[in-house]
Amino acid sequence: MKPFSDKLLSWYAQHGRRGLPWQNERDPYKVWLSEIMLQQTQVSTVKERYLQFVNTFPHLEDLAKAQIDEVMSLWAGLGYYTRARNLHACAKVIQQEYQGKFPQDIISLSQLPGIGRSTAAAIAAFCFQQKNSILDANVKRLIGRIYAVEEDFKKAATNEYLWQIAHDLLPKDARNMPAYTQALMDYGATVCTPRNPKCSGCVFKKECLAFQQDKVEKIPNKVKKVSSKEVRSVMLCVLSGDQVLLNLRPPSGIWGGLWSFPESSWSDHLEIQDLQVQTLEEFQDLPLTILRNALPKGTLLASRKHVFTHRILYFQIVILRVKHIFEIDSTRYKWVNLSGMLELGLPTPVKQFMQDYVAANSSLLQSDVTHDVVSVR
Ligand code: ADE
Repeated sequence: MKPFSDKLLSWYAQHGRRGLPWQNERDPYKVWLSEIMLQQTQVSTVKERYLQFVNTFPHLEDLAKAQIDEVMSLWAGLGYYTRARNLHACAKVIQQEYQGKFPQDIISLSQLPGIGRSTAAAIAAFCFQQKNSILDANVKRLIGRIYAVEEDFKKAATNEYLWQIAHDLLPKDARNMPAYTQALMDYGATVCTPRNPKCSGCVFKKECLAFQQDKVEKIPNKVKKVSSKEVRSVMLCVLSGDQVLLNLRPPSGIWGGLWSFPESSWSDHLEIQDLQVQTLEEFQDLPLTILRNALPKGTLLASRKHVFTHRILYFQIVILRVKHIFEIDSTRYKWVNLSGMLELGLPTPVKQFMQDYVAANSSLLQSDVTHDVVSVR
């Protein structure tokens, strides 16, 4: 029987995907960028955003020199924001420690911020024709089915087993590594798909143990799905004239490193009326006088829902108008012009809210405040 890599390469020559903007790219900067974007975002979304990013930062040096806010803003909407912070950090490390040139070995590559073993292998294969296999979810599924690996893919031992097989399947000739690597990705994405795999046209039908044992759709073995937890929060839209107060979220966690409204911690029971009786510790950085005076008079602007992978957030936005901007820890807060707010990297639902509601509501932009705190609506 023909080796796995020969069959896969023949299939790729005829049926591989065409027209992806990063395809046949050998510049490590662009390959790295596309791989990071594609880690948790669909190809159709990445296509346009990748081109935008390359347009804004054509070279690694441009990205390394950029302000983090600019990077976060360009990333807004793509989710998993740790990727954007790591991207910026990684560009800086390469600029400073590697004179702006990506290292070629996968050990050094995988020690860079945000680059895991599979992404390191992809960069090394695409750009330097190095013989290391990738092992993303698509490849795990493909190999797992051909070898009928029924164990939980999340277990370390199962993963190691899959890495070993992936390594054993590599083509002999290193020059084939770019095409082979893209072919692995394409096969998993278009033929050996999670649901309704196209087994009848599969070139590995004869060797696929899962196909022969009629358990293709049982692999990967689905571990019990935990249902989404519902959480609630209240956000404060503190306005002074056309200035709005924003809070820089901590670097880790949801929306890490993005600018957002000051927000209460997430709880499974919080309601807006609770805020008035609650200790105001939720917003402990904000001056208490502002909260005591403003909160009871604040007006509920919107109730929104945002669905994450494992959580559903119900949040309410309360508007508080204050006469004067007040000083507040400038490392984590800033006052920005309402119209400039949309330029920042904001959490998607906050940005959507601002676009839909505030931009359409001119009264919010009026700056003729006559009281310390005014309700708006
Ligand atoms: N997913 C991860 N890397 C990819 C690539 N190079 N092309 C298409 N999808 C991908």
